Amino acid sequence: MTEGVVVSGGSNVLIQAIVVAAAVKGKVLTIAPSFSLYELQGKMLGNKVIEVPLNSKDFSLPTEKILKVIKKEKPHVIFLPNPNAPTGNLFPEKDLLAIIKAATGLVVIDEAYYPFSGYTFASVLKKYKNLILLRTFSKAFSLGGVRLGYLMAHPAIAQEIQKVVLPFSVGILSQVLGEIVLEEADYVDRVVKESIRERDSLYQSLLKIKGIKVYPSLTNFILFQVSRPHYKNSKRPGGSGDCDTGCEL
Ligand SMILES: Cc1ncc(COP(=O)(O)O)c(C=O)c1O
Repeated sequence: MTEGVVVSGGSNVLIQAIVVAAAVKGKVLTIAPSFSLYELQGKMLGNKVIEVPLNSKDFSLPTEKILKVIKKEKPHVIFLPNPNAPTGNLFPEKDLLAIIKAATGLVVIDEAYYPFSGYTFASVLKKYKNLILLRTFSKAFSLGGVRLGYLMAHPAIAQEIQKVVLPFSVGILSQVLGEIVLEEADYVDRVVKESIRERDSLYQSLLKIKGIKVYPSLTNFILFQVSRPHYKNSKRPGGSGDCDTGCEL
């Protein structure tokens, strides 16, 4: 282990390790909707999982509510992806800093999609001992099947998490592939830029389609909502019966 870094077979393994190290039969706080594994790992290990709903209009962070919950529940671990999945939005730096400062336990900022947003908390990592940054090779590096991820934290925290990761959790093939893509930074950068161009162009096209509500994204995916079709005075495509009163999917 390089000081303050824990490498593992995907960030999923590290999410579990963080919960095992810090919160068995404790409390885990996260937001909803968000990456489902925080809740699943939290529940599996007998924790109370508190999910604070994002503001429904734009999936923004309900910061005041989260600060109140921190004060009342004193969670052992807080998971916040930035940008968030599956909503694709980035949370304001000042709100996340307020949460890190108010937290009584660890705050994990999951930066799985940070190469697509261009924003990271790496510059403040040294300042906050309770902050953990989680990274994966599954997104920008396109190595989801290889299973490789890492976290960065205060060395003392990283050491405790390393203790609960099983030995030899990263195979030699994953290590070699990880090293190769890290040496190909220019290629990865080009792929990320291309993904961003495609994402933004797809977003503009989706905006033009009636009946679709599309959310802006700073990741490599786009969240959109399709309104329920109403086939007035017609038959449901591919189905049977009149739909004068509206067909449901
Ligand atoms: C926010 C977030 N974190 C982590 C992961 C999983 O990463 P890994 O493949 O390294 O386990 C995902 C995968 O979808 C994700 O969306």
